[in-house]
Amino acid sequence: MTKKRFPAGFLWGGAVAAHQVEGAYDTGGKGLSVADVMTAAGNRDERRITAGVQAGEFYPNHEAVDFYHRYPEDVKLFAEMGFKSFRTSIAWSRIFPQGDELEPNEEGLAFYDRLFDECHKYEIEPVVTLSHFEMPYHLVTEYGGFRSRKTIEFFTRFARAVFTRYQDKVTYWLTFNEINNQTNYDRAFTLFTNSGIQAQPGEDAEAVMYQAAHYEVVASSLAVQIGHSINPGFQIGAMVAFSPVYPASDKPRDVFKAQRAMQARFWFSDVQVEGQYPTWLSQYFQSKQFDLDITAADLANLKKGTVDYLGFSYYMSFATQASDHEDDQFSYNEATDLVTNQFVPQSDWGWQVDPQGLRYALNWMNDRYHLPLFVVENGIGAIDELTADHQVHDQYRIDYLHDHIAQMALAINEDGVDVMGYTPWSAIDIVSASTGQLSKRYGFIYVDRNDDGSGSLARYRKDSFYWYQRVIATNGADLEMTVGDADDQPD
Ligand code: BG6
Repeated sequence: MTKKRFPAGFLWGGAVAAHQVEGAYDTGGKGLSVADVMTAAGNRDERRITAGVQAGEFYPNHEAVDFYHRYPEDVKLFAEMGFKSFRTSIAWSRIFPQGDELEPNEEGLAFYDRLFDECHKYEIEPVVTLSHFEMPYHLVTEYGGFRSRKTIEFFTRFARAVFTRYQDKVTYWLTFNEINNQTNYDRAFTLFTNSGIQAQPGEDAEAVMYQAAHYEVVASSLAVQIGHSINPGFQIGAMVAFSPVYPASDKPRDVFKAQRAMQARFWFSDVQVEGQYPTWLSQYFQSKQFDLDITAADLANLKKGTVDYLGFSYYMSFATQASDHEDDQFSYNEATDLVTNQFVPQSDWGWQVDPQGLRYALNWMNDRYHLPLFVVENGIGAIDELTADHQVHDQYRIDYLHDHIAQMALAINEDGVDVMGYTPWSAIDIVSASTGQLSKRYGFIYVDRNDDGSGSLARYRKDSFYWYQRVIATNGADLEMTVGDADDQPD
């Protein structure tokens, strides 16, 4: 047995997002969200975004895994695993179906009351993301999503409503999920899910992204201020996708390119943690002649609404190299500037598996931000096979999580990094965000549902369920349980 030390009160748990599990997309007064107009795709394709819900199309998030109706059974299973925390999000369009109403939808609010009460029944601490890839679709069609400054107002109204309602039920909040995904602004999926934007032909998508992201960091800073005024005990965090970008070689040009890539990926958290734009980016806006709407009042709010902790997802690392014709800015375009790292393996979906990158990530953020860090996503999407006797032997998932937890333990014990908790992706099988597949499975709990929507929705414990149960029961001291020990439950 390898002994690893984690702090007392460490928030072991698991994560999901509302649109990826709840289903019930038009129940309880819920309005359409951006997730409701995205079709399913294959392993390496993009989901299509349709103009509203179209007859004859299949939208996997409409039913997802029916968590909306089955949450008591699922939370009970989370409790059986020993979860101390459960990260989910609030579907914005359950609370404000169109997004621009003045009053929230009581049925939507009541659903999350029931869910959070169910968590507390088992002493599971909810960790709640305000916007996890699902703004109300009406805000897209009427206002252009976060193209519009008005959307800041809609978001903060939503934030105020849920902060007020759940002030005694939720302590840990995150504002925007993976706000920095849209660094990949040429990818239709990321601009749409992060910001409700579809770039138009001929438009400079990079400039569009910077404007929308500015409104989002301002909206986040206002939400932090509102939240702290409602309950000073709230812990409100930012959330970034942390894929470190390594230089592909030790050529100084490659090293600088990688540094620029890191700056481009993490200015979001720089602003949310430090309350101001980094100097390189202010210069960059000028060099690129971006005509952005950034007011003095915005800059004052960024300073006043800095976050209490930094949450992040970690799945993989990236690598980049400089081309022969870089501009003076070494402008980073994530759609074209990444290269394969030959030193790490890849998942079936081409994600570069790099456990040591998690230690790198934790150290990098610790040095830069001096805030508690929360690993709010980490996991591997894989094809699972359900045997005739309803078992899933997912040793590959155990291996992945084992190696990442071991690196996290090194960061805590050897490097002194302050890590609050770990909520791997995902608590239960979900609809994949990027592909819409069910078969890209992440959960500790298998859900009998297929890519075409067939299946009984029955839940089954995977081998990783028992393994993770043991990890939590020993506070991370025992990472070594093998599949054969699965019957040997911890006391
Ligand atoms: C993160 C998201 O990008 O990674 C999740 O926050 C998502 O919503 C997860 O599901 C895994 O990505 P994917 O595309 O494989 O579902």
